[in-house]
Amino acid sequence: MKEIKIIGIIKEYNSIEELSKEDQLLIEASKKAVKNAYAPYSGFNVGAAVLLENGEIVSGNNQENAAYPSGLCAERVAVFAASAKYPDVAMKAIAITAESENFLVDMPVTPCGSCRQVLAEYEHKSGKDIKVILSGKTGKILILKNIKTLLPLIFDSSKLKKNIK
Ligand code: THU
Repeated sequence: MKEIKIIGIIKEYNSIEELSKEDQLLIEASKKAVKNAYAPYSGFNVGAAVLLENGEIVSGNNQENAAYPSGLCAERVAVFAASAKYPDVAMKAIAITAESENFLVDMPVTPCGSCRQVLAEYEHKSGKDIKVILSGKTGKILILKNIKTLLPLIFDSSKLKKNIK
């Protein structure tokens, strides 16, 4: 038996001023996207902003539905929109944030498992890291180098290609 360590580095910042201008702008875009969230059932409004390699920022927010599972998280709305509009442009970073109608979101929002899997697809497709910038309405900001850090032992298309005859 052998133990394998999973090592992931998360950078923690106390305020937005500590971040690069580029990261600050992306957080601001995600905060702007929160305002258009459609979350009448949870009251939890999430915004996501994707920075592309061509400098464009594509934003999204959660879109809920009376048939609950038919809704979609902010991250997937943003990433799918980015890929739909710029299919061949790599994603450099994603900023995610949230505000609740019921409480103060005073810690960084972390993407759900399904969104991590979707983000992993695009990181694998481009072969380039997608930086992840997580924040709340207040509180600390977390930055991860890539999606692999968020989702160790990732399932990607390379697992589908082995042993094909
Ligand atoms: N949600 C997101 O949009 N992103 C996340 O990272 C976590 C959860 C949404 C889904 C649902 O509309 C609401 O937040 C409550 O779960």
